[in-house]
Amino acid sequence: TPKGSCLESVKFAIDTGYRHIDGAFVYYNEHEVGQAIQEKIAEGRIKREDIFYCGKLWSTCHPPEMVRPTLEKTLKILQLDYVDLYIIELPMAFKPGDAIYPKDENGKIIYHETDLCATWEAMEACKDAGLAKSIGVSNFNRRQLEMILNKPGLKYKPVSNQVECHPYFTQPKLLEFCRQHGIVIVGYSPLGTSRDETWVNVSSPPLLKDPVLNAIGKKYNKTAAQVALRFSIQRGVVVIPKSFNPQRIRENFQIFDFSLTEEEMKEIEALNKNVRYVELLM
Ligand code: A2P
Repeated sequence: TPKGSCLESVKFAIDTGYRHIDGAFVYYNEHEVGQAIQEKIAEGRIKREDIFYCGKLWSTCHPPEMVRPTLEKTLKILQLDYVDLYIIELPMAFKPGDAIYPKDENGKIIYHETDLCATWEAMEACKDAGLAKSIGVSNFNRRQLEMILNKPGLKYKPVSNQVECHPYFTQPKLLEFCRQHGIVIVGYSPLGTSRDETWVNVSSPPLLKDPVLNAIGKKYNKTAAQVALRFSIQRGVVVIPKSFNPQRIRENFQIFDFSLTEEEMKEIEALNKNVRYVELLM
């Protein structure tokens, strides 16, 4: 991301009405997000409590003793006293150290043996200390969620699980499981993400070109992107669309003035291909 574009985009998004900001230390732009929030508070446009900031614990920081210091570092960068939500970004741990993707001489990721339940207990302690209002997870499957839910002495269950979710990857089984356990699904790549071949499976066709999404959009004078976002929120999935373009930031917010019929919801659900754009091959 070019320097400053995150700052400008977050400020524009807040002015547009967005309040939920999905961030992470490994996006390397938390300082710009924090600055945008501070500027908007100083302007009197928002109060701190209006913002819902989600931060993430990266995989090199899973050892329990690292969890709180890692969150404190994020808070310092953000210039905030607390995050609204802190989540474990991935269920697998990497070797602690400066390398975000530690690799051996063959280019293979060096994993690290840690106990997810112990990491979770350290997350619970962050909530108790007031550094995170809520705690959750990301990229967890059912088995990994069950490990936490069935942990003896569990103090707080994960409030949310952030996973890829959109009309081509609708996650019906995980969504149902999470519903049963009161865990909110936060859907990343709700627009089918970018077409960046370095980390995106581009063999799956571009979501926003889908004829069904476009045809339904035409009916409501909306774009395929707006239909895709509306579909997700209407089935109870939180969306976190990413854009650094003011026009598209605004477009992605204009989804509260129409609704899809039950039939249209079914039609879009049927587009599910069970194929991920973000395969997380490591
Ligand atoms: P840009 O930042 O130039 O707007 P996702 O949220 O699924 O990860 O998708 C993000 C990608 O979709 C980015 O490449 C973003 O590019 C693009 N994008 C965001 N909003 C829209 C929109 N309304 N229409 C088309 N493309 C969009």
